[in-house]
Order: sequence, then structure tokens, then C-alpha cells
Amino acid sequence: MKFFVDTANLDQIKEAYDLGVLDGVTTNPSLMAKEGIKGKEKQYQHYVKICDLVQSDVSAEVISTDYEGMIKEGEELAALNPHIVVKVPCIADGIKAIKHFSNKGIKTNCTLVFSLGQALLAAKAGATYVSPFIGRLDDIGDDGIDLVAKIVATYRYYGYATEVLAASIRNVTHILQCVEVGADVATCPLDAIKGLLNHPLTDSGLAKFLADYKKVNG
Ligand code: E4P
Repeated sequence: MKFFVDTANLDQIKEAYDLGVLDGVTTNPSLMAKEGIKGKEKQYQHYVKICDLVQSDVSAEVISTDYEGMIKEGEELAALNPHIVVKVPCIADGIKAIKHFSNKGIKTNCTLVFSLGQALLAAKAGATYVSPFIGRLDDIGDDGIDLVAKIVATYRYYGYATEVLAASIRNVTHILQCVEVGADVATCPLDAIKGLLNHPLTDSGLAKFLADYKKVNG
């Protein structure tokens, strides 16, 4: 399973990259706003900085909600760097735009996916990635992982090439559940990725090894 980090923060992206296990980055307008990056030019420069840092897929989301706007914006974003993946909301004009980008060989991430029907349309339009939002479904009492599992099974059954990119991941349990259901990618906050390392027996075992070494070697 590939690991993407779900942030626009350059320090966090660098920390995830330096771990040596990073396969890409996802951003969204809220994450960009959190970094205080104002204005199209600055935002585009920020995407390029992220691409230069990680040299792998970086999702950059369009703000337009109409077909023409999405095409213009998506083509601008794709021209910034070959690692840009154009992130498009799962609405009718978005599906049409994904089809257009797919025909032009531009990578896409179909975002804000909350149902199997939406995921089916994204795959049929030729999306590179589909992003079901686990945490937001859990928040309303639905079952985010169950949706990821259904999309994975459906894509495998019909042989769709679209990769299932589990998003809105909030914790380590979500990541491990993604592994169990065979998601292709999990995009996670940095803390959740680092949380995979935590085990008390690792900490106590290491402390004992070092203490025993010190007893003999001083
Ligand atoms: C990433 O592609 C999504 O935009 C992100 O995971 C959404 O996460 P949230 O539900 O925690 O905002």
C-alpha cells in the first residue's frame, strides 16, 4: 500500500519524505488555507515547492465547479509540474472534466467521494485515483472503511485501473483497516503515519538492550 501525506505543510512533508516511506502528497483548499497561502500565484508556487521536494504524485485541487473552469484550472495546474495530479470534486461537471483530463493523459484524483455509485462514475471517466473520505463518513455514523472495501472489490471485479486512495484518515486504526481491505493508497496526517511505529514492547525492549549493553561496556 502506498503512503501519501495529507498536508500542505512543507516541514511535515519533508519529515514524511525523510522517513523514506513517502509515495506522494494530497492537499485540498482547506489545507492550503491552513498554511496561510494567499493568491493563485503563491499557491501555484507552493505546489511546485511540494513537487520539487517529493518528486512523486502531488494532488492539487481545482476551485472551479463548472466544466470550463475546471478544464482551464486543471490544465494550468498540470502544466506546473509533471508530478501534479489534478484533484476534481465528484460532481457532474467534475466527472466530465476527469474524462477530458484522462483523454489528454493528465492524472486526476476524484475527491469528495462518499458512495459506491460516485466511485463507479469516477472509474468509468478514467480517474487515476478515487478518494473515499473515511473519517467524514464515520463522523455521521456511517462506515467509511466499508465503503473503501466495496470500492476495492468492485474495481477488482471489473478490472478498473483507478487506484483507491483512502482519504480523511484520522488515526492508526483507519490506516490498518485500509491495509486489511486492500486500499491502493492511504493519505494520512503525519502523526498517524508516525503512530504506526508506537509499541510499548519496542520501547521497553530497547531500554533493556541498552541497559544490558551499558552494564558490560560502561
Ligand atoms: C485528501 O485528499 C482529503 O481532502 C482529506 O483527506 C480530507 O480529510 P478531512 O476529512 O480530515 O478534512
